[in-house]
Amino acid sequence: MSVKIIVPATSANIGPGFDSLGLAVTSYLTVTVVEENVDAWYVDHNLGEKIPHDEENLIVKTALELVPDLQPLTVKVESDIPLTRGLGSSSSAIVAGLMLANHFGNLNLSKQELVQRATEIEGHPDNVAPAILGDFVVATYLDGEIMYEKISFPDVSLLAYIPDYWLATKKSRGVLPANLDFKDAVRANAIGNALVAKIVSGNKKDMGKLMEADLLHEPYRDKLVPHFLKLRYLGHEVGAFATYLSGAGPTTMTLIEKDKIDEFIKVAQESGLNDEYRLLEVDRNGARIEVE
Ligand code: HSE
Repeated sequence: MSVKIIVPATSANIGPGFDSLGLAVTSYLTVTVVEENVDAWYVDHNLGEKIPHDEENLIVKTALELVPDLQPLTVKVESDIPLTRGLGSSSSAIVAGLMLANHFGNLNLSKQELVQRATEIEGHPDNVAPAILGDFVVATYLDGEIMYEKISFPDVSLLAYIPDYWLATKKSRGVLPANLDFKDAVRANAIGNALVAKIVSGNKKDMGKLMEADLLHEPYRDKLVPHFLKLRYLGHEVGAFATYLSGAGPTTMTLIEKDKIDEFIKVAQESGLNDEYRLLEVDRNGARIEVE
């Protein structure tokens, strides 16, 4: 019997939806079970020296948090989700660990229960919920209970610019203010609400305007991500819908029509932004397990 778990990358916040909105996108973490009934956990991967191969690996650690006496496995992990870049790599690992424990611990947890457990571990649902459910998810963690709704995101190309440096979420959260003025909070809330309505109705132009009107995190984080406002400006020049900071950054996401992508990349490269451009789509289904 072979078991494979596949979890998509995610792009959280989407402008004004700090800690609440997230989108599953088409880059993936894959965990393949190579051997069962072994004496100790082993995670085979080539994701870099910083990622442990033993029980300290986040996938295994999460699985053992759910089922502490889980029988060790040898697993192979492959991933094209860049680490610490704002595309939910650690959330994907958490989700994979929960699904591994769910399967081998015979827990039969539903998707709702997986979202609940994953949010308890991650602290906020905006990456883990779309990683599990797919598509666009609006969620909140209210008095210990996860509440969410999966909504169909309009068809649009998502062009990620993935810079060649890491930005730890902790550092990126560290620049956020402790308090917000009441009037600003009311505005920020209204912008987020209106954005969700425009996503539901599929009005991409308005959606783009609202995505770029965040008051909660982007105004504080842009100094950590110098290319962000430059890409937003260039996006306007070529007629993109919006550019927002993906999760805690430093990746930015530009929503754009297919026929404008080449021009956007050209002008961005001419202005000195020569790291990775990755064309993504919305992953509609979320994490899955294949048992053969
Ligand atoms: N909402 C989170 C943040 C996503 O922006 O800090 C990254 O964990």
